[in-house]
Amino acid sequence: MKKRFRVGSSAWRCWVVDDGDQLLGHVCVQLFEKMPNPVNEREVHAYLTNLYVVPEMRSQGLGRTLLNEALSWCRAQGTDAVILWATPESKSLYRRCGLLQSNDILEFRGGTLRGRN
Ligand SMILES: CC(C)(COP(=O)(O)OP(=O)(O)OC[C@H]1O[C@@H](n2cnc3c(N)ncnc32)[C@H](O)[C@@H]1OP(=O)(O)O)[C@@H](O)C(=O)NCCC(=O)NCCS
Repeated sequence: MKKRFRVGSSAWRCWVVDDGDQLLGHVCVQLFEKMPNPVNEREVHAYLTNLYVVPEMRSQGLGRTLLNEALSWCRAQGTDAVILWATPESKSLYRRCGLLQSNDILEFRGGTLRGRN
């Protein structure tokens, strides 16, 4: 894990909040490329994950602050869509920060695909 988060070589970008002593929360983002295109269309998407705040610090706005920081950075990178898998309990937070439920995404999970011959 350490290797995959090494500064300079990692595709992950993480935001953390601490109290000077220990971590209180974090969120991680990885950009991924879209197919290059000849028109004026944004060429990266972002996958946002691991939004977490320690239980004793929840409901004080830290989650929202972390999320807004990550989303601002995504905007500054020219990101087209930011995608994530939300738990039912966290959806209201994501909605407040501007994320919308998509009807367009199809999901393929390795273990559940049934081929049609
Ligand atoms: C999601 C999480 C980071 C929010 O942190 P926070 O500092 O409490 O967030 P804020 O104070 O800015 O906002 C509170 C919002 O958190 C969400 N929330 C509350 N309890 C939650 C829970 N048990 N699990 C997930 N989200 C929760 C709600 O959307 C809440 O908004 P609401 O009061 O309008 O319902 C935190 O609850 C957490 O770490 N949960 C466990 C990990 C998790 O579920 N992460 C999201 C994965 S998609």
